[in-house]
Amino acid sequence: MSNHIFLTLTTIIATVLFTRTTAVTYNVKNLGAKPNGRTDATKAFMAAWSSACGSTKAATMYVPKGRYMVGGLKFNGPCRSGAITVRIDGTLVAPSNYFVLGNAKYWLLFHGVQGVTIVGGTLDAQGAGLWACKSSGKRNCPDGATSLAISNSNNVIVYGLSSVNSQMFHIAVNGCRNVRVVGANVVAPWNSPNTDGIHVQLSTGVTIMNSKISTGDDCVSIGPGATNLWIEGVACGPGHGISIGSLGKDLNEQGVSNVTVKRVTFKGTDNGLRIKAWARPSNGFVNGVLFQNAVMTNVENPIVIDQHYCPGGKNCPRQVSGVKISNVKYQDVHGTSATKVAVKFDCSKKYPCRGITMRDVNLSFKNQLPASAYCVNAAGTTSGVMKPTSCF
Ligand SMILES: *[C@@H]1O[C@H](CO)[C@@H](O)[C@H](O)[C@H]1NC(C)=O
Ligand SMILES: *[C@@H]1O[C@H](CO)[C@@H](O)[C@H](O)[C@H]1NC(C)=O
Repeated sequence: MSNHIFLTLTTIIATVLFTRTTAVTYNVKNLGAKPNGRTDATKAFMAAWSSACGSTKAATMYVPKGRYMVGGLKFNGPCRSGAITVRIDGTLVAPSNYFVLGNAKYWLLFHGVQGVTIVGGTLDAQGAGLWACKSSGKRNCPDGATSLAISNSNNVIVYGLSSVNSQMFHIAVNGCRNVRVVGANVVAPWNSPNTDGIHVQLSTGVTIMNSKISTGDDCVSIGPGATNLWIEGVACGPGHGISIGSLGKDLNEQGVSNVTVKRVTFKGTDNGLRIKAWARPSNGFVNGVLFQNAVMTNVENPIVIDQHYCPGGKNCPRQVSGVKISNVKYQDVHGTSATKVAVKFDCSKKYPCRGITMRDVNLSFKNQLPASAYCVNAAGTTSGVMKPTSCF
């Protein structure tokens, strides 16, 4: 080896080691955040983010134990650092006045970032006041903010996050590639409005693993443009189930394809495995879904495709859904239904559901009474155990 190459190599190795061992940490407490749950720490959090984002090295933004009151936090990219860790040992608390965030759409927003890992932390959005406003029928209630949104970003990991009492959705992933949400713990009351656990749309390569979701709306909701989505090891309940939809609200809409949902449990939920589309014209579609190994305990609608969604009977002029649903597999789904109809395929007259396959489905109604299946405009095949008796 020539001296020149040797020296160059040594420099490269030294630089790599130096960069790795000198990752910098920005502690919000050192930047003025008070862990008392009352003093507004927004500025300290944003200062920590700016430094981490602007770092030329791997950087950590650190939130120690304690409660930190923060308003809207916009963690914008692009960042100079391609490896940012946001490590949270404490709890972030939203302002108790819901008007502060209620019209802002997001509480914490990561936008346009690459290579961000969020580890730990509890987000307490204190949503009860806003839910009360909404259920009182008052007119000026804001929509509410999603607690954690990740948008237009790649390679993001959310590991071990807890979210309690969100105003709106707990976690939303929109316009992203390669996002992993692992070990999330989501909690809100069964009757809290619009508190979806994890919402995914217009994103590819999203994984949701080993998470527990108890909330007032869908545990996981899957919107238009979700592709290559993997959901595994999710415990849902209370909640409205794992739901693809609502789809087909708009005429022009991206489809949902290649979705895997496996090893999931539902306890006392409104739905289990659901696909839901508006009764409106649309070029949307669902193609390639595998629901595998699901256990239902006292679930209102364990398996359901509903293409006649039309809340309030408004704006659904022709009452026919344009969403084309095909290639949906249910394998090893068992447990109990809280209603007699355990399997319901209510598909579009214009675009019947095609290629539904069911293998080893065993759902009973109260105390082993036989449940039933209901099909409209649905075609498919079954194999193995099939309880209730198929309606294809
Ligand atoms: C489907 O998505 C999974 C990830 O959920 C991915 O590993 C797989 O390659 C995708 N399949 C196709 C055909 O794109
Ligand atoms: C279906 O589930 C019930 C209740 O768990 C069980 O008793 C029964 O043996 C199962 N039937 C088949 C064919 O697996």
